[in-house]
Amino acid sequence: SDEPVEEPVLKSFDLKNAAEYMSKCSNIIVMAGAGISTSAGIPDFRSPGTGLYSQLSKYDLPSPEAIFHLEFFRNNPKPFFLLAKELYPQKFTPTPTHFFIRLLNEKNKLLRIFTQNIDSLERIAGIPSEKIVEAHGTFFTSHCLNCRKEYDLEFVKEVIFKDEIPHCTDCDGIVKPDIIFFGESLPDRFQQCVQSDFSKADFLIIIGTSLQVAPFNRLVSFVDKNCPRLLINMEPAGKATSIWDLGSSSLLYDTNKNRRDVFHKSTCDDGVTELAKLLGWEDDFNKLLESE
Ligand code: APR
Repeated sequence: SDEPVEEPVLKSFDLKNAAEYMSKCSNIIVMAGAGISTSAGIPDFRSPGTGLYSQLSKYDLPSPEAIFHLEFFRNNPKPFFLLAKELYPQKFTPTPTHFFIRLLNEKNKLLRIFTQNIDSLERIAGIPSEKIVEAHGTFFTSHCLNCRKEYDLEFVKEVIFKDEIPHCTDCDGIVKPDIIFFGESLPDRFQQCVQSDFSKADFLIIIGTSLQVAPFNRLVSFVDKNCPRLLINMEPAGKATSIWDLGSSSLLYDTNKNRRDVFHKSTCDDGVTELAKLLGWEDDFNKLLESE
């Protein structure tokens, strides 16, 4: 085709050159998924065998994801609350990846982290809340499905650890944690930050996610066409899986059209440790890990 071949943004598509480019950036967006919390002992969703969705057979669900469907929940909230009890990490310990993202912020390079996770480990790692977008909500607050009365984490925790269903003290409706179920729209803050942030981003880090869930996965296509996109994950993700994906919504690291995408295949913690080293932040990173 006679369209001008645009210059690649990166000299080569590896972590070393991504780090070199990153060192000049100051508006980095991070898109995170369950893979950044697995080393804290919280299972992800889709890893074969260990992922949550392969461990739900005991709940006799129509499909694994039904446990996060609003209609299913209204009729039968029991499986969700049993799972919430199982998932309730006794101790909250963020991972090196959470601390690397905090270090990005302390180096004045973090524009925002958009996380799909509901474990609140980003907050607990000390990333300022104005820098966090919890795209799939959080357990920190709950609301009555009927009258919308708000409840805190303690109220729900006490009830689910008695294997009961939390009911509203005013109208007896079911109290549901504010995590986003399939069928619910994402928080307003998600839409607002997407509007304001993605045009400003000068680097995108995608980490610990299979990029299977919309609309979150579409964010990869919202950054400028010259903004590098670094995927750190144990398996490839976000590739054009069908003709419908071709174009800007997929990562092109394994195509001959690639100009700015890097896929670094590693665990999240190993990947960020190597990145910290390449950025010359090894001492600061280790100090942060030791201090927490
Ligand atoms: N290091 C690197 N990658 C990892 C690690 C790790 N330690 N552990 C898991 N992964 C990778 C897996 O290979 C997978 O590609 O992280 C990805 C996790 O993908 P999912 O389990 O699909 O989790 P996520 O992408 O966050 O799911 C998105 O699905 O059900 C919904 O709302 C739920 O927010 C969740 C959304």
